[in-house]
Amino acid sequence: MIFFFDKSFIIILLINLLYSQCIAENTCFPSGFKIGVASSAYQTEGAWNVSDKGINNWDTFTHGKNQGNSNEDNTGDIASDSYNKYKEDIQIISDIGFDYYRLSLSWARILPNGFANKISEEGVQHYKNVLDELHAKGIEPFVTIYHWDHPDVLDKLGGWTNELMVDYFEDYARIVFQEFGSRVKLWATINEPNINCLSSYSTGVYAPGFKMPGIGPYICVHNMLKAHTRAYEIYDEEFRQINNGKIGIVIAGFYHFSVEENDTESSDVAFQYESGWIAHPIFSKNGDYPPVMKERIGENSKLEGYPRSRLPEFSPDWIQRIKGTSDYFGLNHYSSNLVKSVPKNPITGWINDSGIVSSVDKSWMRAASIWLSVVPKGFRSILNKIKCEYNNPPVFITENGYSGYANESDIQDINRINYFYSYIEEMLLAINVDGCNVHRYTAWSILDSFEWDMEYKERFGIVHVDFNNPNRTRTPRLSASWLGCVLNRRKLISFDEFNANRI
Ligand code: NOJ
Repeated sequence: MIFFFDKSFIIILLINLLYSQCIAENTCFPSGFKIGVASSAYQTEGAWNVSDKGINNWDTFTHGKNQGNSNEDNTGDIASDSYNKYKEDIQIISDIGFDYYRLSLSWARILPNGFANKISEEGVQHYKNVLDELHAKGIEPFVTIYHWDHPDVLDKLGGWTNELMVDYFEDYARIVFQEFGSRVKLWATINEPNINCLSSYSTGVYAPGFKMPGIGPYICVHNMLKAHTRAYEIYDEEFRQINNGKIGIVIAGFYHFSVEENDTESSDVAFQYESGWIAHPIFSKNGDYPPVMKERIGENSKLEGYPRSRLPEFSPDWIQRIKGTSDYFGLNHYSSNLVKSVPKNPITGWINDSGIVSSVDKSWMRAASIWLSVVPKGFRSILNKIKCEYNNPPVFITENGYSGYANESDIQDINRINYFYSYIEEMLLAINVDGCNVHRYTAWSILDSFEWDMEYKERFGIVHVDFNNPNRTRTPRLSASWLGCVLNRRKLISFDEFNANRI
């Protein structure tokens, strides 16, 4: 007997076959899954003193380190020059084929005085141009309102340790929604409050360089959580109906593996002190800071003679307001570590109040950044932790990436490709096997840029930038073409397969 099938039947059959193959191989992205790339304003823009832009905290901090000399090796004065080269950058993003671009706004470029009494026309126009260019190329903008740079005048008033910063941020966010709301459907309020606050107010390696461990960072996060909530509420009440977008927060998270078998506590405590510090108030059923933080910091403070906990308290009203203020869980994940609990010892502050010490497994490969060990399995673990802890919220991976050394001629960045491959593989297991609710994956970063305290010594770009050349010439690395291939085929592709198909 002979059967005749029409062409469309055969095509459907082939698609099904390919799909079931990629499911079996765990190389499929779920339907509608989006892949993007990220950067931030201070790290890439440069143009620190063009038009009427105000001075920001990082301008002051980096210039201060150089005794007032503007030295482009150690500052973001020129950085990757994206302020001037944004069209070229967007062309590169479009050529690679990314679905979206996560970028941030410079507060001081929009509000030069720091306050809402003066809006810079040029600053606003610049971002409108950038957003229009993205739309013209079919790239969705994903805008972070605050990625660590704010007008210096606000730092002079205490920065994030001043509770009025909550009002200033609210004013800034409202202006940003008014000016760009019709062009932006996806917002992040604040990037990594935990890292920002610890580095700015505990270790002092970020602007403004204050060292107030055990006090400064707790106040800073407290104010950021309120500022985030206000921005979310404004969007909800005044803009969501018209602009129909989503808004959330970006949280940094390592995965913490317990050193000792059967020790489930240390891993959880480490999670609560890092990601939970921000996520518990927003995503947990009861809201507020993680109970373990409240207990341990409260007890330590008492032992140290403080009349109240060094961890500020939210009123019942704020606990309710903060809860639920994120349409997605933005996760920046790069690495993992090993943790174990240590006996209580009030004299040493009991290891940053947590009672946990961390280390790394010596067999883990390391990137250029000292904190970045390559531990792909930790990615699946943290996604599962978020799923269990917060009832499987929609997760957007807002950053994931690998650093190389500045002095390497590393256009052939095979280590970075291996990193991306192994991390995406674990993410797909979390999605396809464990049922984690992940919708987006963002590679960090599109360009080599100013890596905060490490200046230009560590390079996260999938595109190399020549900082010795006044043109800041861009050269896509091999990882950019590998990601292009993944985007094109909508499938995770091994380096060997990619290499074999290269012309
Ligand atoms: C997270 C931060 O958001 C980003 O600014 C930084 O460059 C990367 N981590 C790498 O350190």
